[in-house]
Amino acid sequence: MTAPLRTITPWTSRGPVPSRPRRPRSTRIDSIEGGSDPRPMPSPSVRRVGIVGAGYMGLATALAFARRRRPVVVYDSNARLRRTLSSGRSPIHEVGVRELLRRETSSGAFRVAGTLGELVESADVIVLCLPTPRGAGGRIDLGPMLRGVRELAREIAATHGYRLVVVKSTVVPGTTVERIEPALRAATRRSPRELGVAVNPEFLAEGSMLADALRPERIVLGVSDPKAARTLRHVYATFPAPVHELSPSGAELVKYASNAFLAAKVSFANEVARLSERLGENVDRVARAVGADSRIGRKFLRAGPGFGGSCFDKDVRALVGRSRELGERFRTGEFALSVNEDQLRHVARLVRRALPTLEGKTVALLGVSFKAGTDDVRESRALPIARDLLRAGARVRLHDPVALARFAEEWTGGGWGSKDEVEFCATPAGALRGADLAILHADWPAYRAWPAAWSRAMRQPLLLDLRRAIPPARASKVGLRLVALGVGVPTSGRRPRSRSSAGGRRA
Ligand code: UDX
Repeated sequence: MTAPLRTITPWTSRGPVPSRPRRPRSTRIDSIEGGSDPRPMPSPSVRRVGIVGAGYMGLATALAFARRRRPVVVYDSNARLRRTLSSGRSPIHEVGVRELLRRETSSGAFRVAGTLGELVESADVIVLCLPTPRGAGGRIDLGPMLRGVRELAREIAATHGYRLVVVKSTVVPGTTVERIEPALRAATRRSPRELGVAVNPEFLAEGSMLADALRPERIVLGVSDPKAARTLRHVYATFPAPVHELSPSGAELVKYASNAFLAAKVSFANEVARLSERLGENVDRVARAVGADSRIGRKFLRAGPGFGGSCFDKDVRALVGRSRELGERFRTGEFALSVNEDQLRHVARLVRRALPTLEGKTVALLGVSFKAGTDDVRESRALPIARDLLRAGARVRLHDPVALARFAEEWTGGGWGSKDEVEFCATPAGALRGADLAILHADWPAYRAWPAAWSRAMRQPLLLDLRRAIPPARASKVGLRLVALGVGVPTSGRRPRSRSSAGGRRA
């Protein structure tokens, strides 16, 4: 029924004038979410989504679920990490995580469980985000995963009601069906009607993990029974993304094939970079034109020091190994890996071209995380670069806006060297003071604004820019000599330059 006009226009000149409803201030999370409102009513049929493992991927996944109206309960076997999360603090540097953690903790949508049993009690969908580190012979080490699965199975066996266990960790094709599911069924004695097992790989890149988790381009589900498929579809119903349903092994393969393709693209760009150097071109200009073909695409064609991070090298090796076990070869992966190894040698050649003698020289290495936007240093190329500089007799100073503490841990813990062999600097200017060469490894925005004072602070104002973060015009403005990976000196003739003179040197 329509209300009479009088009652819907109550604000007359005599009545109170309402203040205009204030639009909530837009925050970083709003921009990450792309302005959509992801919060209609919570669904009654899913209680909480349980997240086991709160590393980079587990935490981003948990926060995305919480934000998309799927309240979560998180458990990690690391008690210190649980305490950090319970107090609303972020254990990692990742855009938006701190803000969302605070918001969803106070909204009650993000909760930390004190024990795995507590998680299993309050969650019927349990997502495994456990680490699958590099193991022997290029394989992944399933130890942490299988230990977690056995512990989880004990807790599930002690509870009633349907549970769906979802493998989100990256495991080689076949692992869930051959190893994880049998372990769960043996320990719980439950049929697929009581216990579902599914695969749901993630495609989160560090530095944009929340954006990737909140607005995925696709959701890949690996399911083998209808109940598991229904449950998982329901869990993801609040995510605006197309769903691809495959078998568990198929879903596992999607993850590996995606990473292998991206790694191959980076290696391809790095080979084009070397050609660009020899031809006096700029690899970014070449890549932009190549990538303008929509069949190729512009993304992942940024040449650099080679791919690092916890995924590409490990995953591609594991896929190459798994292919062999299956009686096949995965040559695209082999190519990506071998070019990536070469790229480190190429960086060493560029260093020599910039500064032929390193003995007794001071080198500032800027940006030590594996890429800008994260404090993660796993497989960072800054590690071997620093080690090689030291071996060649240079003094090495390091700067990074957020990753120095993790670098120090990895440097000593990973057996790269001792802590006092390298100097950790709080500011870029501190690292550059008296340096004979700067090497830009991760292109943090702070480095792009290179002021003239930094060049003046150096003994020789010379930069080897592995990411082409400083345009030549800026370099000459701030008195910096630039050697850039993927950039050759333009030649007047058309003849490719000889091996010894290539190298992208710009004065
Ligand atoms: C990657 C995948 O992108 C992600 O989908 C998957 O879930 C995990 O692995 P991540 O390792 O966090 O994510 O970072 P990514 O942005 O993919 O970069 C990986 C490496 O490739 C970095 O060292 C980066 O510097 C390098 N890279 C990437 C390039 O050198 N050039 C590029 O164009 C892109």
